Amino acid sequence: MVQAIVAPRQVLVGAGSIARLGALLGQFGFSRPLVVTDPWMVSSGTIEKCLAPLRAAGITPVVFHETVPDPTDTVIEAGVAALRAGDFDVLLGFGGGSPMDTAKAMAILAAAPAGAKMRDFKVPVAADRGALPVICVPTTAGTGSEATRFTVITDTETDEKMLIAGLGALPLAAVVDHDLTFTLPRRITADTGIDSLTHALEAFVSQRANPVSDMYAREAMRLISPNLRPVYADGGNAAAREAMMLGATLAGLAFSNASVALVHGMSRPIGAHFHVPHGLSNAMLLPAVTRFSLDAALPRYAEAARCMGCAAAGDADQVAGAKLLEELRALNAELEVPTPAAWGIAEDRWNGLLPTMAAQALASGSPGNNPRVPQAEQIMALYAEAYRGG
Ligand SMILES: [Fe+2]
Repeated sequence: MVQAIVAPRQVLVGAGSIARLGALLGQFGFSRPLVVTDPWMVSSGTIEKCLAPLRAAGITPVVFHETVPDPTDTVIEAGVAALRAGDFDVLLGFGGGSPMDTAKAMAILAAAPAGAKMRDFKVPVAADRGALPVICVPTTAGTGSEATRFTVITDTETDEKMLIAGLGALPLAAVVDHDLTFTLPRRITADTGIDSLTHALEAFVSQRANPVSDMYAREAMRLISPNLRPVYADGGNAAAREAMMLGATLAGLAFSNASVALVHGMSRPIGAHFHVPHGLSNAMLLPAVTRFSLDAALPRYAEAARCMGCAAAGDADQVAGAKLLEELRALNAELEVPTPAAWGIAEDRWNGLLPTMAAQALASGSPGNNPRVPQAEQIMALYAEAYRGG
């Protein structure tokens, strides 16, 4: 079997690497960036961390700051209009997953004829063309979007969070600077950290796992798992921030070269219908989905548990698998992950949407990569289990 391995052409990693952003653009011959970010980055002044090094390199950046959480097709269209209204040679996504995914989707839509819609590019379509290259600077650790060939965009007509995949979504370069994450609120630190762990675990047990994605996934789990609790307890813990940031990027490389699986497939509809932050909806599902899938790939889950440090090298697979489940439940408790019920979602609304959410989960293709591929009824049962905190 032939495996196509993808990664950005250059990734700057390390404290202070943002200072080299202008030089990075210069290296590729870019001088007219459109910076894509969210309103908070501008109002809080955080955007200056991105703009200052650009200005220092003699670049006058233009900023599109209308990105929203769970980016929508309408915001992408507004972004493409801004892109076409100016003379730009690169898109620069600065922020969490939403601004980065917005920049990536703008590149894809702008390469299409006028009148095209984001839904024209959802999987299984190959979104391989981008009008402009994209450079990503993550400020969370994180979605890993700076290293993946994916973007997730909500269709405002159907409330569907669409997975869009292809080389058009793969950044040309990224700057991975954990100094940008020190000011993150605790909740976002926890949610984005669990998202990263889920990326690594799902890539590792995916039916599309391969030796290269495994390498990234193992190292990501080794970095993320022991640092999730410390970084949640103390956001100023520099060593933990550094490990989480690199771990998040490696986890992105892992799932970009394998796939995510059932947790992400089921998580997107929760985000679309109830606007639960992405990492949080993953966390709500992770224990129940892992329990459901465990026996279908026990040796893989057991190895994941050993990488994460929650099982010993000498533990039998059955023991390591049980310890993994125990750890995922403990992690949710210690990181104060609420159940959907505790988050405020009414049970009748949740139950009423189960058939739609199950259909949307299956349509994304992600459940088909899971070690145990569920039917719609099994997905609905897992949603019901997760609602109660299973
Ligand atoms: Fe994710």
